[in-house]
Amino acid sequence: MTERTLSIVKPDAVAKNAIGDILRRFEAAGLRIAAAKLTKLSPETAAQFYIVHKERPFYQDLIKFMSAGPIFVSVLEGENAIAKNREIMGPTDSKKAPKGTIRGDHGTDVEKNAVHGSDAPETAKWEISFFFSQADVH
Ligand code: CMP
Repeated sequence: MTERTLSIVKPDAVAKNAIGDILRRFEAAGLRIAAAKLTKLSPETAAQFYIVHKERPFYQDLIKFMSAGPIFVSVLEGENAIAKNREIMGPTDSKKAPKGTIRGDHGTDVEKNAVHGSDAPETAKWEISFFFSQADVH
């Protein structure tokens, strides 16, 4: 099934000049970039994007981290794009992520984990519309 998913290269990975390496991995896995932009989240916008985590103890730190520098946001499209992207990213905790995954190669810990990817079709729909208007998804 052809799906779309939202990908974010987080401030830690953008600062490490890893955008190109990360996009290369998506394309090599057969995912097509259907929309993309470099942007910076305000703390308020980061808080909205991660609203589902608002009761978590790490919420405030996450907002601070995600608004600390530019991020690269894209829409990836392809066969089972959501699961495929999650496989390429590796587990949330970079310390547990195998080498060869994005988080294993570029992440630092459970917070500074280089990338975000949607976890389900409904979330993907919401996250894509959070960043892109329909006219900007090709
Ligand atoms: P992400 O896939 O963007 O979804 C939520 C983010 O919260 C996650 O990646 C991490 O950056 C962060 N996160 C998840 N769990 C923890 C945790 N236990 N401690 C700190 N940050 C976390």
